[in-house]
Amino acid sequence: MVSLSSYPHLASGKVRDLYEVDDDTLLLVASDRISAFDHVLSTPIPDKGRVLTAMSVFWFELLGGADIASPPVAHHLVAARDERIPEEVRGRALLVRRLEMIPVECVARGYLAGSGTVDYRRDGAVCGVPLPDGLTEASMLPSPIFTPATKAAMGEHDENVDFETVAAQVGRELAGTLRDQTLAIYARGAAYAASRGLILADTKLEFGLSPDGTLVLGDEVLTPDSSRFWPAEGYAPGAVQPSFDKQYVREWLTSPASGWDRHSGEAPPPLPDDVIMATRERYIEAYTRLTGREWPPAV
Ligand SMILES: Nc1ncnc2c1ncn2[C@@H]1O[C@H](COP(=O)(O)OP(=O)(O)O)[C@@H](O)[C@H]1O
Ligand SMILES: [Mg+2]
Repeated sequence: MVSLSSYPHLASGKVRDLYEVDDDTLLLVASDRISAFDHVLSTPIPDKGRVLTAMSVFWFELLGGADIASPPVAHHLVAARDERIPEEVRGRALLVRRLEMIPVECVARGYLAGSGTVDYRRDGAVCGVPLPDGLTEASMLPSPIFTPATKAAMGEHDENVDFETVAAQVGRELAGTLRDQTLAIYARGAAYAASRGLILADTKLEFGLSPDGTLVLGDEVLTPDSSRFWPAEGYAPGAVQPSFDKQYVREWLTSPASGWDRHSGEAPPPLPDDVIMATRERYIEAYTRLTGREWPPAV
Protein backbone atom coordinates (compact mmCIF):
# COMPACT_ATOMS: atom_id res chain seq x y z
CA MET A 1 0.00 0.00 0.00
CA VAL A 2 1.32 3.45 -0.84
CA SER A 3 1.75 6.03 1.89
CA LEU A 4 2.50 9.70 1.50
CA SER A 5 6.07 9.05 2.57
CA SER A 6 6.44 6.90 -0.57
CA TYR A 7 6.60 10.08 -2.62
CA PRO A 8 9.20 12.85 -2.57
CA HIS A 9 7.74 16.14 -1.38
CA LEU A 10 8.27 18.82 -4.04
CA ALA A 11 6.66 21.98 -2.72
CA SER A 12 3.98 23.42 -0.50
CA GLY A 13 1.80 26.46 -1.09
CA LYS A 14 -0.54 28.13 1.35
CA VAL A 15 -3.11 25.36 1.03
CA ARG A 16 -1.71 22.51 -1.11
CA ASP A 17 1.25 20.15 -0.91
CA LEU A 18 2.82 18.69 -4.02
CA TYR A 19 4.47 15.28 -4.26
CA GLU A 20 6.17 13.53 -7.13
CA VAL A 21 4.59 10.26 -8.25
CA ASP A 22 6.65 9.82 -11.41
CA ASP A 23 8.26 11.95 -14.12
CA ASP A 24 4.91 13.01 -15.59
CA THR A 25 2.61 12.76 -12.61
CA LEU A 26 2.22 14.66 -9.35
CA LEU A 27 0.04 14.22 -6.28
CA LEU A 28 -1.68 17.49 -5.36
CA VAL A 29 -2.91 17.28 -1.77
CA ALA A 30 -5.33 19.91 -0.46
CA SER A 31 -4.98 20.50 3.28
CA ASP A 32 -7.57 22.00 5.63
CA ARG A 33 -5.39 25.09 5.99
CA ILE A 34 -7.13 28.40 5.49
CA SER A 35 -5.52 31.72 4.72
CA ALA A 36 -6.88 35.20 5.34
CA PHE A 37 -5.27 38.59 4.92
CA ASP A 38 -2.20 36.85 3.47
CA HIS A 39 -1.65 34.76 6.61
CA VAL A 40 -2.10 31.02 6.88
CA LEU A 41 -4.15 30.65 10.06
CA SER A 42 -3.12 28.30 12.84
CA THR A 43 -6.63 26.78 12.93
CA PRO A 44 -7.61 24.37 10.15
CA ILE A 45 -11.20 24.11 8.83
CA PRO A 46 -12.29 20.45 9.00
CA ASP A 47 -13.20 18.99 5.56
CA LYS A 48 -12.09 22.09 3.64
CA GLY A 49 -9.49 20.12 1.68
CA ARG A 50 -12.08 17.55 0.68
CA VAL A 51 -14.62 20.18 -0.35
CA LEU A 52 -12.09 22.06 -2.52
CA THR A 53 -10.90 18.83 -4.10
CA ALA A 54 -14.41 17.55 -4.88
CA MET A 55 -15.34 20.91 -6.35
CA SER A 56 -12.27 21.07 -8.55
CA VAL A 57 -13.00 17.55 -9.82
CA PHE A 58 -16.58 18.55 -10.60
CA TRP A 59 -15.37 21.52 -12.64
CA PHE A 60 -12.49 19.73 -14.39
CA GLU A 61 -14.98 17.12 -15.58
CA LEU A 62 -17.49 19.75 -16.68
CA LEU A 63 -14.94 21.95 -18.45
CA GLY A 64 -13.14 18.99 -19.97
CA GLY A 65 -16.34 17.64 -21.47
CA ALA A 66 -17.81 18.56 -24.82
CA ASP A 67 -20.04 21.60 -24.85
CA ILE A 68 -22.07 23.05 -27.67
CA ALA A 69 -20.79 26.55 -27.03
CA SER A 70 -17.08 25.98 -26.36
CA PRO A 71 -14.39 23.34 -26.97
CA PRO A 72 -13.23 21.10 -24.08
CA VAL A 73 -10.61 22.65 -21.82
CA ALA A 74 -7.32 20.75 -21.47
CA HIS A 75 -6.76 20.24 -17.72
CA HIS A 76 -4.28 18.49 -15.46
CA LEU A 77 -6.59 16.04 -13.67
CA VAL A 78 -5.51 12.43 -14.19
CA ALA A 79 -7.53 10.73 -11.44
CA ALA A 80 -9.25 11.45 -8.15
CA ARG A 81 -9.62 7.76 -7.31
CA ASP A 82 -6.57 5.70 -7.93
CA GLU A 83 -4.44 3.13 -6.15
CA ARG A 84 -1.52 5.51 -6.33
CA ILE A 85 -3.34 7.94 -4.02
CA PRO A 86 -2.42 7.06 -0.41
CA GLU A 87 -5.37 6.20 1.80
CA GLU A 88 -4.48 8.88 4.35
CA VAL A 89 -5.20 11.67 1.83
CA ARG A 90 -7.87 10.02 -0.31
CA GLY A 91 -10.70 12.44 -1.03
CA ARG A 92 -8.47 15.47 -0.83
CA ALA A 93 -5.71 14.52 -3.24
CA LEU A 94 -5.57 14.43 -7.02
CA LEU A 95 -3.21 12.77 -9.42
CA VAL A 96 -2.32 15.46 -11.92
CA ARG A 97 -0.14 15.91 -14.96
CA ARG A 98 3.11 17.60 -14.07
CA LEU A 99 3.19 21.02 -15.69
CA GLU A 100 5.61 23.84 -15.98
CA MET A 101 3.44 26.46 -14.30
CA ILE A 102 3.17 29.92 -15.84
CA PRO A 103 3.77 32.44 -13.05
CA VAL A 104 0.66 34.53 -13.79
CA GLU A 105 -2.53 34.53 -11.76
CA CYS A 106 -5.12 34.56 -14.55
CA VAL A 107 -8.10 36.43 -13.17
CA ALA A 108 -11.41 37.12 -14.89
CA ARG A 109 -13.90 39.52 -13.37
CA GLY A 110 -17.53 40.04 -14.27
CA TYR A 111 -18.23 42.18 -11.19
CA LEU A 112 -16.34 44.73 -9.15
CA ALA A 113 -14.96 43.41 -5.84
CA GLY A 114 -11.83 43.21 -3.72
CA SER A 115 -8.72 44.64 -5.35
CA GLY A 116 -10.86 45.40 -8.42
CA THR A 117 -12.85 47.94 -6.43
CA VAL A 118 -9.68 49.43 -4.94
CA ASP A 119 -8.08 49.83 -8.38
CA TYR A 120 -11.25 51.21 -9.96
CA ARG A 121 -11.65 53.87 -7.27
CA ARG A 122 -8.05 54.94 -7.74
CA ASP A 123 -7.66 54.65 -11.53
CA GLY A 124 -11.13 54.26 -13.06
CA ALA A 125 -9.63 51.08 -14.49
CA VAL A 126 -8.63 47.60 -13.35
CA CYS A 127 -5.31 46.22 -14.62
CA GLY A 128 -5.28 48.88 -17.32
CA VAL A 129 -8.80 48.05 -18.53
CA PRO A 130 -10.80 51.30 -18.44
CA LEU A 131 -14.28 51.05 -16.94
CA PRO A 132 -17.26 53.41 -17.15
CA ASP A 133 -17.93 56.00 -14.43
CA GLY A 134 -20.49 55.41 -11.73
CA LEU A 135 -19.68 51.80 -10.80
CA THR A 136 -19.82 50.81 -7.15
CA GLU A 137 -18.80 47.85 -4.98
CA ALA A 138 -20.23 44.64 -6.53
CA SER A 139 -21.41 46.36 -9.73
CA MET A 140 -21.71 44.13 -12.77
CA LEU A 141 -19.14 45.12 -15.42
CA PRO A 142 -20.25 45.92 -18.99
CA SER A 143 -18.50 42.70 -19.99
CA PRO A 144 -16.08 40.35 -18.20
CA ILE A 145 -12.45 41.50 -18.18
CA PHE A 146 -9.05 39.81 -17.86
CA THR A 147 -7.21 41.23 -14.85
CA PRO A 148 -3.97 39.30 -14.36
CA ALA A 149 -1.77 39.41 -11.27
CA THR A 150 1.78 38.36 -10.61
CA LYS A 151 2.13 35.47 -8.20
CA ALA A 152 3.54 36.77 -4.92
CA ALA A 153 5.87 34.88 -2.61
CA MET A 154 4.27 33.33 0.51
CA GLY A 155 2.93 35.99 2.83
CA GLU A 156 2.90 38.67 0.18
CA HIS A 157 0.05 40.12 -1.77
CA ASP A 158 -0.42 39.27 -5.45
CA GLU A 159 0.03 42.39 -7.51
CA ASN A 160 -2.41 43.38 -10.24
CA VAL A 161 -0.69 44.03 -13.57
CA ASP A 162 -1.87 45.04 -17.02
CA PHE A 163 -1.94 42.89 -20.13
CA GLU A 164 1.28 44.47 -21.46
CA THR A 165 3.16 43.33 -18.36
CA VAL A 166 2.04 39.75 -18.95
CA ALA A 167 2.93 40.05 -22.66
CA ALA A 168 6.43 41.25 -21.72
CA GLN A 169 6.79 38.38 -19.26
CA VAL A 170 5.54 35.40 -21.26
CA GLY A 171 5.28 36.67 -24.83
CA ARG A 172 2.35 38.33 -26.58
CA GLU A 173 0.94 35.20 -28.16
CA LEU A 174 0.82 33.18 -24.94
CA ALA A 175 -0.53 36.21 -23.05
CA GLY A 176 -3.37 36.47 -25.57
CA THR A 177 -4.14 32.78 -25.23
CA LEU A 178 -4.16 33.04 -21.43
CA ARG A 179 -6.61 35.93 -21.65
CA ASP A 180 -8.91 34.16 -24.11
CA GLN A 181 -8.91 30.89 -22.17
CA THR A 182 -9.49 32.65 -18.85
CA LEU A 183 -12.45 34.59 -20.21
CA ALA A 184 -13.88 31.47 -21.88
CA ILE A 185 -13.66 29.44 -18.65
CA TYR A 186 -15.14 32.32 -16.68
CA ALA A 187 -18.07 32.54 -19.11
CA ARG A 188 -18.75 28.82 -18.84
CA GLY A 189 -18.42 28.83 -15.06
CA ALA A 190 -20.65 31.88 -14.71
CA ALA A 191 -23.36 30.42 -16.95
CA TYR A 192 -23.36 27.16 -15.00
CA ALA A 193 -23.33 28.97 -11.62
CA ALA A 194 -26.27 31.12 -12.76
CA SER A 195 -28.27 27.95 -13.43
CA ARG A 196 -27.71 27.09 -9.75
CA GLY A 197 -28.73 30.50 -8.44
CA LEU A 198 -25.19 31.73 -7.91
CA ILE A 199 -23.29 34.67 -9.34
CA LEU A 200 -19.66 33.97 -10.24
CA ALA A 201 -18.24 37.43 -9.56
CA ASP A 202 -14.64 36.57 -10.40
CA THR A 203 -12.19 33.71 -10.56
CA LYS A 204 -8.46 33.06 -10.55
CA LEU A 205 -6.96 30.35 -12.74
CA GLU A 206 -3.46 28.96 -13.11
CA PHE A 207 -2.17 27.42 -16.31
CA GLY A 208 0.92 25.45 -17.14
CA LEU A 209 2.63 23.95 -20.15
CA SER A 210 2.84 20.21 -20.67
CA PRO A 211 6.11 18.77 -22.04
CA ASP A 212 4.69 18.91 -25.60
CA GLY A 213 3.96 22.63 -25.16
CA THR A 214 0.16 22.43 -24.78
CA LEU A 215 -1.46 24.95 -22.50
CA VAL A 216 -3.17 23.08 -19.64
CA LEU A 217 -5.42 24.30 -16.82
CA GLY A 218 -3.82 23.39 -13.47
CA ASP A 219 -4.14 23.91 -9.73
CA GLU A 220 -7.69 24.28 -8.38
CA VAL A 221 -10.61 25.58 -10.38
CA LEU A 222 -13.74 27.55 -9.53
CA THR A 223 -13.58 26.84 -5.80
CA PRO A 224 -14.61 29.27 -3.04
CA ASP A 225 -10.88 29.84 -2.38
CA SER A 226 -10.14 30.90 -5.95
CA SER A 227 -13.43 32.56 -6.85
CA ARG A 228 -16.13 34.80 -5.47
CA PHE A 229 -19.57 33.18 -5.56
CA TRP A 230 -22.53 35.22 -4.40
CA PRO A 231 -26.08 34.01 -3.88
CA ALA A 232 -28.10 35.57 -6.73
CA GLU A 233 -31.03 36.16 -4.40
CA GLY A 234 -30.29 39.20 -2.33
CA TYR A 235 -27.62 40.47 -4.74
CA ALA A 236 -27.45 44.23 -4.22
CA PRO A 237 -24.56 46.31 -5.56
CA GLY A 238 -23.31 49.11 -3.34
CA ALA A 239 -21.98 46.92 -0.54
CA VAL A 240 -19.61 43.99 -0.10
CA GLN A 241 -21.61 40.85 -0.94
CA PRO A 242 -21.69 37.80 1.34
CA SER A 243 -19.39 35.17 -0.12
CA PHE A 244 -19.03 31.45 0.34
CA ASP A 245 -15.66 31.22 1.93
CA LYS A 246 -13.89 33.33 4.44
CA GLN A 247 -16.66 35.72 5.27
CA TYR A 248 -16.96 34.65 8.92
CA VAL A 249 -13.21 34.37 9.28
CA ARG A 250 -12.61 37.86 7.94
CA GLU A 251 -15.49 39.32 9.97
CA TRP A 252 -14.24 37.78 13.19
CA LEU A 253 -10.58 38.66 12.58
CA THR A 254 -11.45 42.31 11.96
CA SER A 255 -13.91 42.49 14.89
CA PRO A 256 -12.86 43.63 18.38
CA ALA A 257 -13.51 40.07 19.61
CA SER A 258 -10.32 38.79 17.96
CA GLY A 259 -8.12 41.48 19.50
CA TRP A 260 -6.04 41.34 16.32
CA ASP A 261 -4.83 44.26 14.23
CA ARG A 262 -4.35 43.15 10.63
CA HIS A 263 -1.76 45.87 10.09
CA SER A 264 0.34 44.82 13.09
CA GLY A 265 2.37 42.29 11.14
CA GLU A 266 1.58 39.73 13.85
CA ALA A 267 0.09 36.31 13.18
CA PRO A 268 -3.70 36.15 13.63
CA PRO A 269 -5.03 34.39 16.76
CA PRO A 270 -6.64 30.91 16.59
CA LEU A 271 -10.27 30.90 15.48
CA PRO A 272 -13.04 30.14 18.00
CA ASP A 273 -15.10 26.97 17.47
CA ASP A 274 -18.25 28.72 16.25
CA VAL A 275 -16.29 30.52 13.50
CA ILE A 276 -14.63 27.24 12.49
CA MET A 277 -17.97 25.41 12.31
CA ALA A 278 -19.78 28.20 10.46
CA THR A 279 -16.95 28.39 7.94
CA ARG A 280 -17.00 24.63 7.41
CA GLU A 281 -20.76 24.77 6.78
CA ARG A 282 -20.27 27.58 4.29
CA TYR A 283 -17.74 25.58 2.24
CA ILE A 284 -20.05 22.56 2.23
CA GLU A 285 -23.00 24.74 1.21
CA ALA A 286 -20.98 26.09 -1.71
CA TYR A 287 -20.33 22.52 -2.84
CA THR A 288 -23.89 21.25 -2.51
CA ARG A 289 -25.43 24.36 -4.07
CA LEU A 290 -23.10 24.39 -7.02
CA THR A 291 -22.95 20.71 -7.80
CA GLY A 292 -26.42 19.69 -6.63
CA ARG A 293 -24.69 16.72 -4.98
CA GLU A 294 -24.83 15.47 -1.41
CA TRP A 295 -22.06 15.94 1.11
CA PRO A 296 -19.91 13.94 1.69
CA PRO A 297 -19.25 12.55 -1.80
CA ALA A 298 -18.52 8.86 -2.19
CA VAL A 299 -14.75 8.32 -2.29
N1 LIG B 1 -0.13 20.35 -12.53
C1 LIG B 1 0.75 21.04 -11.80
N2 LIG B 1 2.09 20.90 -11.99
C2 LIG B 1 2.97 21.62 -11.24
N3 LIG B 1 2.63 22.48 -10.27
C3 LIG B 1 1.31 22.65 -10.01
C4 LIG B 1 0.31 21.95 -10.77
N4 LIG B 1 -0.92 22.33 -10.31
C5 LIG B 1 -0.69 23.23 -9.31
N5 LIG B 1 0.65 23.43 -9.13
C6 LIG B 1 1.27 24.31 -8.14
O1 LIG B 1 1.02 23.75 -6.85
C7 LIG B 1 0.92 24.77 -5.87
C8 LIG B 1 -0.44 24.63 -5.18
O2 LIG B 1 -0.36 25.08 -3.90
P1 LIG B 1 -1.28 26.23 -3.31
O3 LIG B 1 -1.34 26.02 -1.85
O4 LIG B 1 -2.57 26.32 -4.07
O5 LIG B 1 -0.37 27.48 -3.68
P2 LIG B 1 -0.62 29.06 -3.47
O6 LIG B 1 -0.19 29.38 -2.08
O7 LIG B 1 0.27 29.65 -4.51
O8 LIG B 1 -2.09 29.28 -3.75
C9 LIG B 1 1.01 26.10 -6.61
O9 LIG B 1 2.33 26.58 -6.53
C10 LIG B 1 0.68 25.71 -8.05
O10 LIG B 1 1.25 26.58 -8.98
MG1 LIG C 1 -3.45 28.13 -4.92
